[in-house]
Amino acid sequence: MLLNSLFERQVVFFGGKGGVGKTTCSAAFALAASQRGQRVLLVSTDPAHSTADIFERAIGPREVALGSGLWGLEIDGEQEAARYIADVKRDIQKMFSANVLRQANRQIELAAASPGMTEVALLDKMIDLIVDRQQSYDMIVFDTAPTGHTLQLLRMPDAMTSWIQALVRHRRAVVEIDHGEQSADEALATDPILLALTRRQERLARLRSTIMDRASASFALVTIPERLAIEETERAAELLGDTGVDVGALIVNRVLPDGLEGEFYRERKAQEMTYLEEIDRRFKRLRRVRVRQLPRDVYGLQSLALVSEQLVTK
Ligand SMILES: Nc1ncnc2c1ncn2[C@@H]1O[C@H](COP(=O)(O)OP(=O)(O)OP(=O)(O)O)[C@@H](O)[C@H]1O
Ligand SMILES: [Mg+2]
Repeated sequence: MLLNSLFERQVVFFGGKGGVGKTTCSAAFALAASQRGQRVLLVSTDPAHSTADIFERAIGPREVALGSGLWGLEIDGEQEAARYIADVKRDIQKMFSANVLRQANRQIELAAASPGMTEVALLDKMIDLIVDRQQSYDMIVFDTAPTGHTLQLLRMPDAMTSWIQALVRHRRAVVEIDHGEQSADEALATDPILLALTRRQERLARLRSTIMDRASASFALVTIPERLAIEETERAAELLGDTGVDVGALIVNRVLPDGLEGEFYRERKAQEMTYLEEIDRRFKRLRRVRVRQLPRDVYGLQSLALVSEQLVTK
């Protein structure tokens, strides 16, 4: 019923068009899970952070307690990218001579300026959380950036795996030339670059298998009963289907309450009815959960609880 079945997953993503209620719904779901006694980490990957606003306290790159059994964390892609570049530079310091290092650093500067860098860094941080820190939590809830970005991120492990495979082949060839093919075995087994690449590959594979495992991870799409949102949701649902990620629910947020008066309300409600029917028709294969439009913006635990109680049953 409702989103309750998602309580069993280790990772739940909330995604959707800008402004539809991703942050609100992910926070409400995470809160409900923690109130059932689960240990939950709520992670925001959106540069425009608002998890902090909802919980009315500052949240940064380190976990902070938001309640009993609930922790929050905000990832800033740009900051992560800078840290990531610094890490890579430090790692290679030990591997190369000064001459090669100058060249390598130049390559890294170029890579740092390339458009996909923030995503690579975000992915790396997600691996940190999903692969390495999963034991500390029963569930990690991701409040993601608007759809396009997130889908790109979910497809990255595949792209990066083939990229790393190419680097491994290249590095093996270099080591074999250096040592002669016959006596290269030991050098291959201990080469720090190959070891680092293999480790990366393993972590990517583990991230991928968690995300693709329907029993472990799920994606909750958030939408509102309006034309543009419905179209974008359809595209997102298709793309997610293509990647093989489970779409566990479609949350239809900001549904007008019943029984109000007046011409404006009646007209609005009539239009909404046609959109709600359309949503039921177009997304009949998805579990659909409706959340009412509340009289005020959702700030603070009390108003968040009003959303939680519509998402899950006690
Ligand atoms: N059911 C609701 N009733 C009333 N207000 C709502 C409801 N859902 C969301 N809001 C309000 O709508 C605004 C946008 O919601 P939210 O920040 O959760 O959307 P978002 O999808 O995370 O946006 P962004 O794409 O900018 O990250 C917020 O001010 C929030 O308080
Ligand atoms: Mg948001």
